[in-house]
Amino acid sequence: MIQGLESRGSLVMRMEAIDEQLVERIDRYVEDLFVREDTILAECLKDTAAAGLPSINVSPNQGKLLYLVARISRASRILELGTLGAYSTIWLARAVPAGGRVITLEVNSHNADVARKNLIRAGCGGRVEVRVGDATATLRQMIATGEPAFDLIFIDADKPRYVDYLHLSLQLAHSGSVILADNLIRNGRVLDAHPEDELVRGVKAFNEAIAAHPRLESIILPIYRSKVDGLSISLVK
Ligand code: SAH
Ligand code: DHB
Ligand code: MG
Repeated sequence: MIQGLESRGSLVMRMEAIDEQLVERIDRYVEDLFVREDTILAECLKDTAAAGLPSINVSPNQGKLLYLVARISRASRILELGTLGAYSTIWLARAVPAGGRVITLEVNSHNADVARKNLIRAGCGGRVEVRVGDATATLRQMIATGEPAFDLIFIDADKPRYVDYLHLSLQLAHSGSVILADNLIRNGRVLDAHPEDELVRGVKAFNEAIAAHPRLESIILPIYRSKVDGLSISLVK
């Protein structure tokens, strides 16, 4: 341990104490054991990057986790906020049974075009709908038009609005629905009492909101890749 680590209590110092190489090797070890080599997902990531989109998709292990949570909860109607190139969407779409449906919301129409191509190549085009527009507006519209409730909702769009997304998502959920959200630890930056970054403030407020919400039972799982992030799992009572 670095001397003075405890007394300084500095977040940066603590994070430096993590052996990032070891964390990467463990992540890869789990991936090699449990996530099949998948040419469709590999092509999806390749074309997403080639189209100029950032590589901020969930990791392969996290994709497998999303898939398993969807399977375990027997979700047949899934809503996703934040599509990017549809990497996570494909994992979720593979989890739904025949007749199931995934609706994924994306503000950027270029991203949505890339996503649709990836979904078609993955054979998921028929059960996934990409809706272009600001997620807040789309969610409000869905609520107003009586969209049937979703069994699973994955929140992964712009972080400052996560608390709004939670409240809107709850209006599209039923008792027993599962709500998941990505990027809740941000390499430990949520430990800051008053984060400067509005993204970190957004997810920190979300974490406190799911912890306090009377309709939810929740936990956050740390997700290790090169950095530590987190995924929440909430059950709607
Ligand atoms: N779920 C994806 C990653 C999503 S990245 C995966 O794991 O593969 C976040 C996405 O949210 C980006 O594509 C971004 O364009 C989109 N986004 C940002 N703000 C948004 C908004 N207000 N409404 C809908 N989508 C938004
Ligand atoms: C980042 C990662 C994400 O998973 C995401 O949804 C948005 C941004 C990032 O690392 O910047
Ligand atoms: Mg994310």
